[in-house]
Amino acid sequence: MGATVMVTGGAGYIGSHVLVSLAEAGYRPVAVDDLSNGNRAAVERAAALAGQAIPLEVVDLTKEGAADAVMHRYASMERPFAGIIHLAGRKAVGESVAAPLKYYESNVCASVRLLRAMHRHRIRSMVFSSSATVYGRPDAVPVNEQAVLTPANPYGRTKLAIEEMLRDQSRADRGLGVAILRYFNPIGAHASGHIGECPQGEPANVFPYITQVAAGIRDRLSIFGNDYDTADGTGVRDYLHVMDLAEGHVLALEHAFQSPGCLTLNLGTGRGVSVLELVRTFERVSGLRIPLHIAARRPGDIDAIWADPGLAARILGWQARRTLDEMCADGWRWQRNNPKGYADKDGSGATEAGIVSAARLSAVSKAAMAGDSK
Ligand code: WQD
Repeated sequence: MGATVMVTGGAGYIGSHVLVSLAEAGYRPVAVDDLSNGNRAAVERAAALAGQAIPLEVVDLTKEGAADAVMHRYASMERPFAGIIHLAGRKAVGESVAAPLKYYESNVCASVRLLRAMHRHRIRSMVFSSSATVYGRPDAVPVNEQAVLTPANPYGRTKLAIEEMLRDQSRADRGLGVAILRYFNPIGAHASGHIGECPQGEPANVFPYITQVAAGIRDRLSIFGNDYDTADGTGVRDYLHVMDLAEGHVLALEHAFQSPGCLTLNLGTGRGVSVLELVRTFERVSGLRIPLHIAARRPGDIDAIWADPGLAARILGWQARRTLDEMCADGWRWQRNNPKGYADKDGSGATEAGIVSAARLSAVSKAAMAGDSK
């Protein structure tokens, strides 16, 4: 069996997909999550998809000593962590404006504690989940990693603060290998339809809102403004498939294993897509109509941003492979199979205990991936 890798936030949307990609690459992932936003079932289903046990350690990383305890336990079981993929953190822009200290504590303080514990336990490699939000309103698009960093909200400023801390620490500790990944807009789900995005309450992000309208959970999509300086007036973003993003984490971890220092990369497709184009693509792929109306702009939104992903291609050999159609089809399959997300006990494959047998999953996954994309 391969090296043991800690995935903080492993019970979350991105984290559960990273668990699957790590297992597929031969690693032994361990999910570490406080379950404040994640789901135990997401780890169970990722394990069933991966065909291997994936432990979930329920831990609050803001607590002193919490990370050390997990690292000590796995070292004493002869499974020391070879590296850490650090995804845990709060990520709601609006909430960060209302409660900035909660964000600095959950995101920045927890990351300081994690880095100190890594040093004590001689764990030398980290991949960190950053965000295109650090660019704020870019001067030009596509955006490359040298662009000016002007985050426009506390959430983005916590991500930038952690980036700067990692750059400083990798200069002070020459043995540390770090890869900082600036995500653009991850959407969609694993093709099996058994893990996916499970927002708590009303979705803040456009894609889960669209899928909930399609599922009849929401009445209609409000498009926040159609007077932006874009082709159709609606906001333009760089949507990438969550599995492309997950696979990028494995390549970034392997780079961190081999290369001390700190690497910062954009993970995006390099293509801007408007809200209206996303809706039309979803309608075509799902065969469903999405009722919508034009609402006022959302404070803080920018007109357009998309990535220059050239550095990730050159250094990691990574590029987004899955199309917008696949993002929509896979995201809809997850939503359709699990109308209530992980709370959905009668979703496909789920049993009353919520434990999904590997055999059941692989049978259903094969059927799902055989092309019943409607
Ligand atoms: C996309 C577009 C909206 C909702 C945020 C975070 C970013 C990252 C991804 C964590 C915009 C429009 C949205 C709706 C709409 N998260 N929209 N109706 O704001 O680009 O990025 O999520 O890392 O850090 O900032 O994503 O999906 O919220 O918005 O019209 O109900 O959809 O105006 O143009 P965003 P989003």
